[in-house]
Amino acid sequence: MSEKKERYLVTSALPYANGPLHIGHMAGAYLPADVFVRYLRMRGEDVVFVGGTDEHGVPITLTAEREGKSPREVVDHWYAHMKETFERFGVSFDNFSRTSTPLHAENTQTFYEKLKEGGYVSEAESKQMYSPTEGRFLPDRYVEGTCPVCGYKEARGDQCDNCGSWYEAFELLEPHSKITGGPVEVRETTHLYLDLPKFTDRLKEWVGSQEHWRDSVRNFVLGMIGGGLERRPITRDIKWGVPVPEPGFEDKRFYVWFDAPIGYVSSTMEWAQNVGEPDRWREYWQEEDTRLVHFIGKDNTVFHAVVWPAMLMGVGEGGDEPYVLPYDVAANEFMNLEVVVDGEPRAMQMSTSRNLAVWLHEALDQFPADLLRFYLASILPETGDVVFSWREFGSRVNSDLIGTLGNYVNRTLSFTEKYFDGTLPRPDGLTDEAREAFEDFKEMEARYERRMYAQRPRDAFGELLAMGRRANRFFDAAAPWKSRKEDPEAARGALYACSVLLGSIAYHATPFVPEAIKNLQGFFDGPIARVSDLEPLPEAYGVSGAKPLFRKVEDGEVEAAEEKLANAARG
Ligand code: MSP
Ligand code: ZN
Repeated sequence: MSEKKERYLVTSALPYANGPLHIGHMAGAYLPADVFVRYLRMRGEDVVFVGGTDEHGVPITLTAEREGKSPREVVDHWYAHMKETFERFGVSFDNFSRTSTPLHAENTQTFYEKLKEGGYVSEAESKQMYSPTEGRFLPDRYVEGTCPVCGYKEARGDQCDNCGSWYEAFELLEPHSKITGGPVEVRETTHLYLDLPKFTDRLKEWVGSQEHWRDSVRNFVLGMIGGGLERRPITRDIKWGVPVPEPGFEDKRFYVWFDAPIGYVSSTMEWAQNVGEPDRWREYWQEEDTRLVHFIGKDNTVFHAVVWPAMLMGVGEGGDEPYVLPYDVAANEFMNLEVVVDGEPRAMQMSTSRNLAVWLHEALDQFPADLLRFYLASILPETGDVVFSWREFGSRVNSDLIGTLGNYVNRTLSFTEKYFDGTLPRPDGLTDEAREAFEDFKEMEARYERRMYAQRPRDAFGELLAMGRRANRFFDAAAPWKSRKEDPEAARGALYACSVLLGSIAYHATPFVPEAIKNLQGFFDGPIARVSDLEPLPEAYGVSGAKPLFRKVEDGEVEAAEEKLANAARG
């Protein structure tokens, strides 16, 4: 599986630079990617991991107008904030870019030109809401009015919160601007469209053959193609975004979902420049054996598994500038929040506008990143929606991380230090029990690897816990607290075997709790390695100055965190 080294390009969705990151973002798009990438690097694969902020589109301009700032001020602030928060959480991007750079604008325009040359762009008129007093077209989210279905007075531009109906903004009765309250009218406007139907057959064949994809993603795409693809507008009547290089489009910009995925390419180009090999991005985007893996939350699926591959097909045509297609689109389900109001736990959707979320930077002020990573890894929404609960966070950390893994490491190290001067030479032979534990570990290591390579970090995490339990079982059976008096050499030999297992646990824990394992290396002298790779076994293990790797979560901390959410939910 890992003999031949592969070339990977891994991406995480580009978050909108208009507010802080919350734990739902982490669970959907960042932690699984980071864990996967850290493991690939340990296995010696060739991997580049890129990200960045998505700085265009209506979410940004709405925030700017609400706060009385320019879009530039908004994105500059949140770009810096997000970059720092990702670093604190240990997301190990090789490059973290942003989509408001000149390089990205140029790159987006090149994509556009090539799609146009290929005959995939057309122009058409459509109806759009226009505000005469503001002198501009208004995106759907800027418009409010009376619902054409139920008569609800504060219906949004594209959907009614009262009856749930979807409609076009021009169908609203008495439509008005959300910003000024002034009247709006329907006007004709011209936009550029991507001719998605032209890719129907190629998309169908390609997706159909991606048997390693998650069924949920593959079925979603096949269903969408089956229902018939439609051409999609790629421009908008707004002023913030990448300029459209066409006469008559001076007051328009590319639609944010047109330029955003191109941001992955731009970020890779920036990375190549930063490492002093400006052409190297081509290896990752243009050599056909690259494995391009996109980590996203499920609401991003259509853009990554249908529209973006079509763009790559269209741009890569003609042969001189081919592009790889995604090897996998690892779309995750959603993480919701458990909110305890008056003793009643309820699952609620996170909401930025209601301030109902666990903000990552605040959680990191309170807890080390490793504790949060550990709990989130245990509940990643790989197969269905999940619920984040502060109470469960406390109990998972205290029982699994500290009780199972931390405890094993602690007792192995402290016994070694206390009773054997911190030195464990390789014993002459291994006991049957040690041999058996090693064999079991090799199996678990192989399973862990399979799961990780299949982009299933949560399942790999399950193997890590199993390793911890198996190692504790070996320690208990060897009972070095007894044998150190009766047969010190046997006890020393058992602790040596324990150290082999510890090295493997540490190896497999690294992608999940990287800080702790870095600390461990300060007092544990021995290979952090898979049992499967330890040939021959090391001559000795050493320990000096061991400290606990993790701190406990106190009940009071859980209660305070729960209280904060309950207050937000009460409004
Ligand atoms: N800007 C787009 C992505 C463009 S990618 C070219 C976007 N940004 S976002 O800030 O709204 O979300 C960032 C990522 O987090 C997305 O992949 C989104 O699906 C994911 N999630 C946001 N909330 C989430 C949960 N509550 N649970 C799981 N994933 C979540 O979308
Ligand atoms: Zn309605």
